[in-house]
Amino acid sequence: MTAAIEVRGLRRVFRVRQGLFAPPRQVVAVDGVSFAVPAGSVLGVVGESGCGKSTLARLILGLLPPTEGEVLVDGRRLSEMDRRARARLIQPVFQDPFASLNPRRRVKDIVAMPLVAQGSVPAAEAARRVAEMLERVGLSQEQGERFPAQLSGGQRQRVAIARALVLRPRIVVCDEPTSALDVSVQAQILNLLAELRRDLGLTYLFISHNLAVVEHVASEVAVMYLGRIVERNESEALFRAPAHPYTRALLASVLTPEPGLGVPDVGLGDTLPDPANIPPGCRFHPRCPQAFGRCPAEAPAAWPAAGGGFAECHLLDPAAPGAAPREALRQEA
Ligand SMILES: Nc1ncnc2c1ncn2[C@@H]1O[C@H](COP(=O)(O)OP(=O)(O)OP(=O)(O)O)[C@@H](O)[C@H]1O
Ligand code: SF4
Ligand SMILES: [Mg+2]
Repeated sequence: MTAAIEVRGLRRVFRVRQGLFAPPRQVVAVDGVSFAVPAGSVLGVVGESGCGKSTLARLILGLLPPTEGEVLVDGRRLSEMDRRARARLIQPVFQDPFASLNPRRRVKDIVAMPLVAQGSVPAAEAARRVAEMLERVGLSQEQGERFPAQLSGGQRQRVAIARALVLRPRIVVCDEPTSALDVSVQAQILNLLAELRRDLGLTYLFISHNLAVVEHVASEVAVMYLGRIVERNESEALFRAPAHPYTRALLASVLTPEPGLGVPDVGLGDTLPDPANIPPGCRFHPRCPQAFGRCPAEAPAAWPAAGGGFAECHLLDPAAPGAAPREALRQEA
């Protein structure tokens, strides 16, 4: 069966200058990401701030060209489609609905924008589809006449969802869709997204720093660290038996701070990950409580994990000598 969305070897490097005379540094934000998501399912993507989640989302949405790799929807290359064709297949829902909604336009006109941009939908048909979509996301026709500033945060996110779905795309990329909302409103929006997925047969890529949210919505989970997916598995298996030491550290954290603050320190040490300076071997080794001699020397392969997924860790190598204590690494280094 063809995956609804497939990502092959995606890589994105940014060149950044920190001062006028400083030489440019290379930031490897996404570093060889591949996955396929079956139609109708939800792939959750989790990881610390700066691990490349939003860059991955922008690559998949075609908002940013990849340095390497490609994205396929229903087996067709996104890079070979024009913007209008892409918009019919894949749409975003971002974290901050206020920033992504034009404050000077009425809600109904905001929702109609993707239809208008297609250039081929008659006005009466567009108005009918906007009215239907407002109703689906729980907004009244009267609210459709308002401006974004006259709505609550949750209502604004409903507008963003209606705009994303008015073209009936196959895929929705949700980047922290509830992180800016009050906790009481988050559940309503998550339930709405789940209902819409069922009713409209959507496939989601769901990015969140909040593990509880991901556990609630995702059928499969990908854990990102410094631009790579270091573990991926069925949601139930990953939360029950995490195979990668980084996933275990993430799960051990109970707090879920705002995006931009990273995950809470759960004993990973004070060496913060820097995508401009990716460690050799296993990129997690400077912070890994189980690192051993092989880790700084050799990048781990993707080994099968219980539940059908994989993890990039030498500990899963059937031929591995086993984990030596962390002190062993210090002596060898
Ligand atoms: N346009 C850009 N130019 C230069 N560097 C960038 C650009 N966009 C992202 N980066 C860098 O790429 C890395 C990954 O950023 P990204 O926004 O994808 O992370 P994230 O996982 O979404 O983080 P957060 O959880 O804070 O949203 C960061 O080091 C960031 O500074
Ligand atoms: S390969 Fe080594 S450093 Fe990397 S996660 Fe596994 S044990 Fe830790
Ligand atoms: Mg982000």
